[in-house]
Amino acid sequence: MFNAPEVQPFVTARPAPEIVDSLSREILELKRRHRAVILAHNYQVSEIQEIADYVGDSLGLAQQAAQTSAEVIVFCGVHFMAETAKILNPHKIVVLPDRDAGCSLEESCPADRLAALQKTNPNFYTIAYINCSAAVKALSDVICTSGNARKIVEHAPADRDLLFVPDENLGGWVMEQTGRPMTLWKGNCYVHVEWTHAAIQRIRREHPGAPIVAHPECTKAVRMLADEVCSTEKMVTYCRKNPAPALIIATEAGMLHRLRRECPDKIFIPAPTERCACNECRFMKMNTLEKLRDCLANLSPQVELPADILERARRPIERMLEISALP
Ligand code: 13P
Ligand code: SF4
Repeated sequence: MFNAPEVQPFVTARPAPEIVDSLSREILELKRRHRAVILAHNYQVSEIQEIADYVGDSLGLAQQAAQTSAEVIVFCGVHFMAETAKILNPHKIVVLPDRDAGCSLEESCPADRLAALQKTNPNFYTIAYINCSAAVKALSDVICTSGNARKIVEHAPADRDLLFVPDENLGGWVMEQTGRPMTLWKGNCYVHVEWTHAAIQRIRREHPGAPIVAHPECTKAVRMLADEVCSTEKMVTYCRKNPAPALIIATEAGMLHRLRRECPDKIFIPAPTERCACNECRFMKMNTLEKLRDCLANLSPQVELPADILERARRPIERMLEISALP
């Protein structure tokens, strides 16, 4: 039997239950009035996950955005995710609780630097991880997420030189999986690089029977210790099917809420970082129930993009959705 450490999934201050109840009631009423849908990423705080119509990974969220009939999309995640929803729904209103919810991967890859690199090799075929700006998507041949990166690379034209941006860790993992060489952009997720080989070895010694599940944004030193490397949504399926009573999870802390909800009979142990509470993404945690209520009440802030970027970014995202749907 495992002695599960009593670790709170979030260090972010949580609102009192009565405040959650009253905000949740207001949000549901506003959602009905605006015919809105609430999409939330697996890293959102628990009370946002609880009120969302759909909670999932970047791929699932893009698929939901592509097929929704709602008139307003409320995107609880980070800015590039809401942008993706807008690119797929240029005539709909897409709002997000906090416009400043960015991403260190997106920041690492400015469009002008990517364009300059692309000019050095006309044979480059650019595969962009969805964690990038709309302007970078507009410069890319195809988009991928952690959930389909392997398939997207396998479908890339054999006669082209692959350029993978902006996550060098996800790119390195896909190269290992496919054997296809790629030029990697030197970006990373500031949260996922906090896990170290030594810290994972220590937690494994404390829980010798617990499988380790890691996100591919982790470094190779961590991935090599993992029993499974996968997207956040695939973590749910893996943990559900795995007979182990306890599993060690190396990804952002919000995922623990989703996993505990989906697999209430299992124990989920957050993989420790060397420094305290580094497993929360400060961008994902900018969204609160209060800001969600306000963005629905005011239909603001909205995602707005230049028409040419909206147009050019759509094709690479649609190509990803098409390849993803292949058997
Ligand atoms: P997933 O698509 O696996 O949910 O990952 C998104 C992300 O931002 C990971 O840090
Ligand atoms: Fe970006 Fe990392 Fe936050 Fe994901 S966890 S949104 S990759 S900074």
